[in-house]
Amino acid sequence: MGFHFTPLLLTLLLLISTLPTKSSSQTFKCSSPSTCHSLIDFISPNRTTLSHIKTLFSIKNIRSILGANNLPLSTAPNFTIHAKQPIKIPFPCLCFNNTGLSNNQPTYAVKKDDTLYHIAAEVFSGLVTFQEIAAVNNITNADLIEVGQKLWIPLPCSCDDVDGVKVVHYGHVVETGSSLELIAQEYGTSRDTLMKLNGIANDSSLLAGQVLDVPLQACNSSVRSDSVDYPFLVPNNTYFFTANNCVKCKCDAANWTLQCEPSGIRPSNWSTCPAMQCEGSLLTIGNTTTSSCNITTCAYAGFSKNQSIFTTLATQSTCPVTTAPAGTPGNYASRIGLSWNYLLIPIHLILLLVYLL
Ligand SMILES: *[C@@H]1O[C@H](CO)[C@@H](O)[C@H](O)[C@H]1NC(C)=O
Ligand SMILES: *[C@@H]1O[C@H](CO)[C@@H](O)[C@H](O)[C@H]1NC(C)=O
Ligand SMILES: *[C@@H]1O[C@H](CO)[C@@H](O)[C@H](O)[C@H]1NC(C)=O
Ligand SMILES: *[C@@H]1O[C@H](CO)[C@@H](O)[C@H](O)[C@H]1NC(C)=O
Ligand SMILES: *[C@@H]1O[C@H](CO)[C@@H](O)[C@H](O)[C@H]1NC(C)=O
Ligand SMILES: *[C@@H]1O[C@H](CO)[C@@H](O)[C@H](O)[C@H]1NC(C)=O
Ligand SMILES: *[C@@H]1O[C@H](CO)[C@@H](O)[C@H](O)[C@H]1NC(C)=O
Ligand SMILES: *[C@@H]1O[C@H](CO)[C@@H](O)[C@H](O)[C@H]1NC(C)=O
Ligand SMILES: *[C@@H]1O[C@H](CO)[C@@H](O)[C@H](O)[C@H]1NC(C)=O
Ligand SMILES: *[C@@H]1O[C@H](CO)[C@@H](O)[C@H](O)[C@H]1NC(C)=O
Ligand SMILES: *[C@@H]1O[C@H](CO)[C@@H](O)[C@H](O)[C@H]1NC(C)=O
Ligand SMILES: *[C@@H]1O[C@H](CO)[C@@H](O)[C@H](O)[C@H]1NC(C)=O
Repeated sequence: MGFHFTPLLLTLLLLISTLPTKSSSQTFKCSSPSTCHSLIDFISPNRTTLSHIKTLFSIKNIRSILGANNLPLSTAPNFTIHAKQPIKIPFPCLCFNNTGLSNNQPTYAVKKDDTLYHIAAEVFSGLVTFQEIAAVNNITNADLIEVGQKLWIPLPCSCDDVDGVKVVHYGHVVETGSSLELIAQEYGTSRDTLMKLNGIANDSSLLAGQVLDVPLQACNSSVRSDSVDYPFLVPNNTYFFTANNCVKCKCDAANWTLQCEPSGIRPSNWSTCPAMQCEGSLLTIGNTTTSSCNITTCAYAGFSKNQSIFTTLATQSTCPVTTAPAGTPGNYASRIGLSWNYLLIPIHLILLLVYLL
């Protein structure tokens, strides 16, 4: 047996160890000038903590890292991230001149003995090149950087639709021994889409450490097109806070339906969270009632700057279809029907009452 396996193992090991590693830059194509949310992998060479990563990437609240990685909300800031453990970093993306770059963040303050190369290749683990840092910061001589100088680290991203569908672009760092097929499978896309999006002709040009543009499908939501957070894209296996932190929404590929609930945390910008009740019912966002074969959910439908949260009642009918199609007697199917009933909650009166009390 051993004789049969050894050559195979050796070949595999050789293949893996000879997979070339990335050395040059890669930017993502982003054709229409716009802004959106994006994700990128950070693989720390050393053991680190969530709060260190939060600081390194200039992230306002640790909650957004927890949501992007589906970690429990109760995770402590000093939670250990092991060396080489990929962590997804959420950041705002800006598309300009056909290229997507992180929108003026993260900013990094130069430390003693730093070089641009060290910052690019080691501190940010090769997500950017030192040339890219120099270019966006107007540095003409890469050897001339000063301690304390603030540098914008331009991370690659995109806001483009993929095959006519709105997606979240995720900068996936290719691991040694990976393949386009495996990556496509894990993230619910296809090998062809990955090749087209990244301008890759075949697998042999896939490099370990390369940042691959992977489009992530988002859950279907009821968010209105006039909502401040439209299009509200929450990808599989992540959660996200919206409506000034008043609402927490998560996405599960089990049914691709966005599930939202009142977050219970202190809002930003607003003094209190507005009511989130659905009109003509006792349901608030996230509540469900079942009447015979109809399931009614009070769903989140967006928010407006004037301190309102929109809701909608979504009724899903699972009633059996009694009129079977001709030729297939006895074939009872389930019919899924959605009916929407939008409601705007004016909360000014409620807020006024809160103030008066
Ligand atoms: C994290 O901090 C908490 C207190 O804030 C402490 O009890 C715990 O031991 C710390 N954990 C680690 C791994 O440092
Ligand atoms: C736009 O991109 C092109 C190359 O892709 C570059 O030559 C040009 O300088 C860029 N323009 C601006 C304003 O950045
Ligand atoms: C990782 O740890 C080593 C030794 O502890 C240190 O020399 C190196 O600078 C660290 N690298 C980073 C990126 O922090
Ligand atoms: C770099 O220079 C350009 C044009 O000179 C300017 O628009 C831009 O704001 C500068 N960027 C930084 C980071 O200083
Ligand atoms: C959804 O996320 C889970 C957990 O990360 C993963 O196993 C699954 O492949 C993902 N599905 C799709 C379609 O992306
Ligand atoms: C992949 O591309 C390389 C050159 O980049 C070429 O030598 C090789 O034959 C190609 N393989 C396939 C399967 O097309
Ligand atoms: C929900 O989204 C999935 C995938 O994104 C799609 O296949 C499905 O048709 C959508 N369902 C509805 C009711 O829009
Ligand atoms: C989707 O699945 C979740 C559990 O993963 C469940 O709580 C929710 O009710 C489901 N939604 C629909 C519309 O089936
Ligand atoms: C919160 O308020 C600040 C300042 O008033 C504003 O710049 C920011 O855009 C607001 N954020 C949201 C989500 O409305
Ligand atoms: C509605 O959901 C909240 C949690 O978001 C829960 O506390 C409450 O009991 C639910 N109400 C009903 C009627 O299901
Ligand atoms: C189920 O919902 C549909 C509308 O989607 C409605 O016409 C029907 O009367 C409801 N059935 C029950 C039993 O509530
Ligand atoms: C708040 O804004 C929404 C649209 O964004 C509008 O329909 C509604 O009338 C506004 N409410 C008040 C009280 O101004």
